[in-house]
Amino acid sequence: MPEAEPENPFAADVPGVVVKPATYVLFGASGDLAAKKLLPAVYNLYAEGRLPERFRLLGIGSSMPEHNFRDHMINEVTRYSRSGVDEKILASLLERVDYIQGDFTKPALFDKLKKNLTAGDSALGGPTRRLFYLAVAPRFFGPIGDSLHKVGLARGAEPESVLMIEKPFGHDLESAIALNDEVTDAFDESHILRLDHYLGKETVQNLLVFRFANGIFEPLWNRRYIDHVQITAAEDLGIGTRAGYYDQSGAIRDIIQNHAMQLVALTAMEPPATFDADSIRDEKEKALKSIRCVGSARGQYTAGDVDGSHVTGYLEEPNVPPTSTTETYAALKLEVNNWRWAGTPFYVRAGKRMPRRSTEITIAFRPVPHMPFSDPKVAQSIRPNLLTLSIQPNEGASLRIEAKAPGAETQLRPVRMDFLYGETFTRETPEAYERLILDALRGDATLFTRADEVEQAWRIVDPVIAAWEQNEVPLEPYVAGTPGPDSAEALIRADRRKWRRL
Ligand code: BG6
Repeated sequence: MPEAEPENPFAADVPGVVVKPATYVLFGASGDLAAKKLLPAVYNLYAEGRLPERFRLLGIGSSMPEHNFRDHMINEVTRYSRSGVDEKILASLLERVDYIQGDFTKPALFDKLKKNLTAGDSALGGPTRRLFYLAVAPRFFGPIGDSLHKVGLARGAEPESVLMIEKPFGHDLESAIALNDEVTDAFDESHILRLDHYLGKETVQNLLVFRFANGIFEPLWNRRYIDHVQITAAEDLGIGTRAGYYDQSGAIRDIIQNHAMQLVALTAMEPPATFDADSIRDEKEKALKSIRCVGSARGQYTAGDVDGSHVTGYLEEPNVPPTSTTETYAALKLEVNNWRWAGTPFYVRAGKRMPRRSTEITIAFRPVPHMPFSDPKVAQSIRPNLLTLSIQPNEGASLRIEAKAPGAETQLRPVRMDFLYGETFTRETPEAYERLILDALRGDATLFTRADEVEQAWRIVDPVIAAWEQNEVPLEPYVAGTPGPDSAEALIRADRRKWRRL
């Protein structure tokens, strides 16, 4: 085991990294996110020996009785763990698991919680750092923070406590500022970890390594050599059973404001002086500050065929109001008004019920400045270089270059140089939540978003939402299984460019 915590988070992802003794307090432990992601993530971290010797998981839920929680955890971990389950390991983890049934809107729960933490620490033989993970609706973030503060478990607490929350962080800039104010009343900003699960994905982290650990890309990473950037977050799935949440959000609040803006910021940011949390987040915030949206399109899926199956339209999905005007597809053209990017647009799109699942960042380079080939057919066939960083489903990077096809004539063909994570690194990629929970336990905030980034992202999308509400940009239907509405095609075609094929 290393003696001190490694400082560089990108070098730190090795087995045995030091994590201080911790208690992971999971509010919403009986809910959906806990079942599908959080409990399996804790199991996998434990199974890989990444959790500290002195570790405890304390679940809190309002509806599930205490005697049911263990069985619930066994069932859900078995169902959702990416690596299957070893019964012995799970049984050993369960010895470190405790649960309180209680109403987190009532002070009594927090007195009980405090007593449980004190008793748990003495059973473990010393104080543990507390990580409060709120897997509950955002309207409870402020009140829970406040209640923790009132019982002395928040700002200035000994042992130290950290608050971990997940989007949505507000509904617009104003509500995001209000939410940030509420949670910072109870916890210092440096102790609030806002989770964006995209930042836990390997390729997203690799974007920084790609840019800043390789000499060949950064000199080209600017307006002189890059024609435009395209960021796509396409899903073949519909909204499933999440109408209650999704119909209030739509694609712009669900994906663009958070996940996509993080990808934009990481692609556009300046090199940080060091890889510590604040240096990276300072640069991301600075990049976001330079951005404004100069064009948009929106759509809603109608019934169609995806992957050979017939699927219903958005308006026929369970619990969607029949007159809903919520967009399930959004495309934005962004200008990054700074020295590096002026004149190089970023196009961003996100949609449900697209022909396939694909999340990627594509850097489209400018064409060669002079065409030395006299044959016009050859000259016309040359396509610009593309660098594509694939985030899912296949993680990797691919560079499209022109090559000469074999033969006596000069005929060019685009070919690809590919790097696929799965082929190069045989180790299975951990789930984003595993990485982020581990980072939270070891107190590393690099892969979490800061209040100012969240607010900048709302500043960018708020005017777009306002224009949509005024119907300045019509909501257009698109057939499920097609790559989005015609207006999105028109948005990019107006600049004589086209979206990557989906
Ligand atoms: C979530 C959104 O944040 O991200 C979902 O709320 C979306 O609507 C999901 O499906 C996509 O995540 P991933 O990791 O599957 O790309």
